[in-house]
Amino acid sequence: MGLTLTEKIIKDHLVVGEMVKGTEIGIRIDQTLTQDSTGTMAYMQLEAMEVPRVKTKRSLAYIDHNMLQEGPENMDDHIYIQTVAKKHGVYFSKPGNGICHQVEIERFGVPGQTLLGSDSHTPTGGGIGMLAIGAGGLDVAVAMAGGEYYITMPEVVKVELTGKLRKGVSSKDIILEVLRQCTVKGGINKVFEYAGDGVKTLTVPERATVTNMGAELGATTSVFPSDDMTKAFLEAQGRGEDFTALSADSDAVYDQVVKVDLSTLEPLTACPHSPDKVVKVSEIEGLKVNQVAIGSCTNSSWLDLMKVAAILKGQTVAENVQLVIAPGSKQVLTMLAENGALADLLNAGARILECGCGPCIGMGQAPCTDGVSLRTFNRNFKGRSGTVSADVYLLSPETAAISAVKGVLTNPLGKVELPDIEMPKDFLINDNAVVPPAPEGEKVEVIKGPNIKPFPLAKPLADTVEGKALIVVEDNITTDHIMPSNAKLLPYRSNIPYLADYCLAPCDPEFPQRAKDNHGGFIIGGQNYGQGSSREHAALAPVYLGIKGVITKSFARIHKNNLINNGILPMVFENEADYDKISLGDDLMIDNAREQVNTLKIALKNKTKNEEYPLLIEVSERQKEMLQSGGLINLMRSKN
Ligand code: F3S
Repeated sequence: MGLTLTEKIIKDHLVVGEMVKGTEIGIRIDQTLTQDSTGTMAYMQLEAMEVPRVKTKRSLAYIDHNMLQEGPENMDDHIYIQTVAKKHGVYFSKPGNGICHQVEIERFGVPGQTLLGSDSHTPTGGGIGMLAIGAGGLDVAVAMAGGEYYITMPEVVKVELTGKLRKGVSSKDIILEVLRQCTVKGGINKVFEYAGDGVKTLTVPERATVTNMGAELGATTSVFPSDDMTKAFLEAQGRGEDFTALSADSDAVYDQVVKVDLSTLEPLTACPHSPDKVVKVSEIEGLKVNQVAIGSCTNSSWLDLMKVAAILKGQTVAENVQLVIAPGSKQVLTMLAENGALADLLNAGARILECGCGPCIGMGQAPCTDGVSLRTFNRNFKGRSGTVSADVYLLSPETAAISAVKGVLTNPLGKVELPDIEMPKDFLINDNAVVPPAPEGEKVEVIKGPNIKPFPLAKPLADTVEGKALIVVEDNITTDHIMPSNAKLLPYRSNIPYLADYCLAPCDPEFPQRAKDNHGGFIIGGQNYGQGSSREHAALAPVYLGIKGVITKSFARIHKNNLINNGILPMVFENEADYDKISLGDDLMIDNAREQVNTLKIALKNKTKNEEYPLLIEVSERQKEMLQSGGLINLMRSKN
């Protein structure tokens, strides 16, 4: 039986486990990337592992997320990342060089390699044939230190593309169609592998739009074959030597098949407030628009912006619309400047932002109150734009551009005369905004501004674990409750002591001080504790506050992993009714904790009430070892 492309890449990188679907496997990571909002913590974690040089083939540190510099904190973070990267063997992409995923595709992606990035849209690299996966900062730090990355051996979905897109229909419409069919929950523990005749009609940037937004399916990743189109792109980027042809075997067996006929596809849009609320643009055409935003790691390539420039050339942005455009990289912006397309954008009335994430992460350009914003981005969750009352629609650059001119949501099909835009034979290559690592890193001084505080580490698991029930919270507590992230707190992402004062404060403002006064203790939670984003700070702040265990009715998966990675015991009540028996301030104790963790069953003593409750700790052998060591970093240190 033949292999899918996904299985081939996994087989080449398999270090732990066997390729049995649903089981845990460990894969070797060739390349890593970080961005600034998760990077500071990842590099502090790398430093804590005491690994002098990264062991990957190549690691990159990007600055693209938060480039607003209203105080010194952000630039301090940039300088820390730059110096720590130089010391430890990591390339540093300066602010302004571009959005991590766009630059990776242009300058660093290699077909057939694995890429782990501390950003959920790392799967963009699948556009060039990489197995590219988004993860938490600590996982990326471990990969930089030479450790494997663990995933559930995925199911593979074949997305069969047939036909050819019509002018005015774009690769954004392909992924919106896949989202329409499969929904935001449709990709869990799956890789979406693109195949069929339609693949060869799509350029690498078009493929990258599809793999980028595959993240919205909840998929492990998405991947395209590496073929003549990939070869031409790499050669035009001066990297022909990085090309390898890659595809699935003709008799590969897939777990699921999704079909998209490119020739009948129509322009689509994801309506507020979810990327899978997809309808045809023609169904809601005429909607009055306040803002159009073009860019983000989904649609900011040279090809995207050339199409936009072609539509805007000689036109004027409608009176009621503000049009903002953030090119994806310095390469893109420079090429537009040199070929005159930038002038077409400016003449039409577009505002050009710097090459970065910007409005995508709510850093500037928030829409007006109750506004309608059309965006070529990948997410439209309520409030992400910075305006809670705004309605954000996700759509293609073609739809965005024509709508900016008309002032209302407009179907580009049949309404735009797009010229044939040939991909460049030679992209403009100038990597002078990428600072290479120092050959002798030990001589580099890592500069840590006052906002960059030491990273908290748990202690190895003690035989007796005791402390008070410091907080009792209800069901569905999110990582936003555990560690709020807002514009006020974001500049403090490298300062866990500062952030810890806001830990669980939305549930109980007294909790952080209570935890400090008692030198730590236990958190008691209900169902689905820790749902929401993968924010690692929601585990790090509790470590700083001395939390030894979290006892709940159930955990959200990623938060549970983050607790384990950071040496906090995640335990669930065997009898849910016992949740009601624990009161705030009760003295709790676990005897022979090290031994009990091994048995996956724990007896929790409530000394205040003279009761005992059976708990379960559902962890793998690998995770048991982490908990015994006081977290993954301590474990790595002991192994190094
Ligand atoms: Fe940046 Fe938005 Fe992509 S924050 S990495 S442009 S999803």
